[in-house]
Amino acid sequence: MTFQKAFLFLLLLCATVMADVNQQYNHFLKQHVDGEMTTLKCKSQMEILNLNRPDRKCKLKNTFILANPDQVQAICTGGGTLKGNNLVQSNKPFSVVICTHTGGESHPNCTYKGSSATKKVIIACDGKFPVHYDGDVDIGITDGK
Ligand SMILES: *[C@@H]1O[C@H](CO)[C@@H](O)[C@H](O)[C@H]1NC(C)=O
Repeated sequence: MTFQKAFLFLLLLCATVMADVNQQYNHFLKQHVDGEMTTLKCKSQMEILNLNRPDRKCKLKNTFILANPDQVQAICTGGGTLKGNNLVQSNKPFSVVICTHTGGESHPNCTYKGSSATKKVIIACDGKFPVHYDGDVDIGITDGK
C-alpha cells in the first residue's frame, strides 16, 4: 500500500468508528432520554421501542431519564464519577420514569405500568457519548408508584 492509500484507509476506519458511536448514541437517546415522558405514556413509548426490536418481543423494563440530551451527555464529560471500565454514575440525581412489563409477549400486545423516581443514573460512555443505560442508584427519595 502506498502512503496515500494507507492514509485514506485509516481515515475511512476513523469515520466508520465515529459513525458507529453516533448511531449507538442516537439509539441510547431514543430508548432512555425523554424530557416529556410520564408514567402514563409507558404503553405508547414502549410500543415504539418494541416495534423497533428485531424480534418485536416485549422489553421487560425500560428507564427513561427526564432530561434533555445535553444534560445526559454531560455525565460523560465531567458530570459523573467513574465506576469502573466505561461506566459512569451521574453526580446529580435525575427524575426517571420506569416502565415495567405487565403482560403480553410481543408487539403490539405488550402492556406496561409506569413508576417515577429520583435516582442517580449509571451509564456507559464511549468517549464523550452515552451509549448504554446500565442502572441507577437510589438516593432515598420516592416520588410515587
Ligand atoms: C396479540 O394478542 C392477540 C389476542 O390475544 C393474539 O391473537 C395475537 O396473536 C397476538 N399477537 C402477537 C403478535 O403476539
